[in-house]
Amino acid sequence: MKLLVCGGAGFIGSHFTRIRARDFGDDVVVLDKLTYAGRRENLQDVPHTFVHGAIEDPEAVEQALDGVQAVVNFAAETHVDRSIAEPDAFVKTHSLGTHTLLEGARAAGVRYVQVSTDEVYGSIEQGTFTEESPLAPSSPYSATKAGADLLVWSYFHTYGMETLICRGSNNYGPYQYPEKLIPLMVLNALHGDKLPVYGDGQQVRNWIHATDFARGIGHVLDHGEPGAVYNVGGPDECPNLDVVNRIIALTGRERDELIEYVADRPGHDRRYSLSSERVRALGWEPQVRFEEGLAETVAWYRDNAWWWEPIRSGEYRDYYARHYGKALG
Ligand code: NAD
Ligand code: DAU
Repeated sequence: MKLLVCGGAGFIGSHFTRIRARDFGDDVVVLDKLTYAGRRENLQDVPHTFVHGAIEDPEAVEQALDGVQAVVNFAAETHVDRSIAEPDAFVKTHSLGTHTLLEGARAAGVRYVQVSTDEVYGSIEQGTFTEESPLAPSSPYSATKAGADLLVWSYFHTYGMETLICRGSNNYGPYQYPEKLIPLMVLNALHGDKLPVYGDGQQVRNWIHATDFARGIGHVLDHGEPGAVYNVGGPDECPNLDVVNRIIALTGRERDELIEYVADRPGHDRRYSLSSERVRALGWEPQVRFEEGLAETVAWYRDNAWWWEPIRSGEYRDYYARHYGKALG
């Protein structure tokens, strides 16, 4: 099938594009604005057609939609800390961008999959979120993602458009920008920089390998029911401090030497947990357990300095100094 993947030059979008082009033989068009998080290098081994543009630009959207049979929208601002410091781009991309893309897809009459997040449900102390759980987002990131989900669903309800929504838990794996917990801690540990743990480090995340999430989204694209929401959660939950300690062990560092407890994130969600029974009923299940996937991920970062060196020596240093109040070594 000819498929439009918006945000395909980012972390999960590039895994999805690789799997669809390589394993399913899809003809993939990628539309991407190439923000700081979008990189052509992520797709250097993947056959695709690239359109440089924003989902909030109707002309770029129309060009990218030419001849496609379906759209999968990964395009987003994705870092919670940045949404707290500067929410503007989150509102623009998630609200105006999703609206513009939906209008283009409606005019083209194509199936539309929105990639969303477990963060739209907010935090849960015990138990697990199902697709029927109420939306209770807590950051500008998750609030604008929830708004996008509601708009997507309204296009199914009002216009009868074939829209579907996938809500994923915390992803990890190769090609993830090192502002996120796992790649940040891996690169800092490899360089001997401090590992900044927010608050008490006991916040729990439900980790999923990006290839498992990408396959889940593909299942929903191919077999999902229009109008439905599908949670796609990982097989393992882990408190942040355990994640950091595992990374320290995998990088051969000393535990006490590197961990630094820093000020907590404002409004920090304590725990995420997803029930994924609905997507499992479509035949999907995660293939990568956290222990194995984390070891492979650490090895990938150790072996692929070509990928992260330009990031870690560029604008990222300014972001890091601004956000953490200290320079990288
Ligand atoms: P990412 O930040 O690595 O990549 C985002 C991509 O979108 C980049 O290539 C960027 O250039 C592009 N982009 C941003 N704004 C755009 C715009 N206005 N128009 C076109 N392109 C634009 O993100 P990711 O971690 O790969 O996340 C992809 C999607 O998955 C997002 O929708 C995110 O909310 C969702 N998600 C992420 C996770 C996670 O743990 N990373 C978990 C669940 C859901
Ligand atoms: O749950 C899905 C979401 O997961 C996605 O929708 C988001 O796009 C993605 O960024 C991610 O959000 P989190 O806020 O959970 O991810 P992050 O990697 O920023 O942080 C993971 C946990 O680690 C969180 O509890 C905050 C903590 N943390 C993070 C950083 C960057 C630290 O303790 N120190 C840090 O320096």
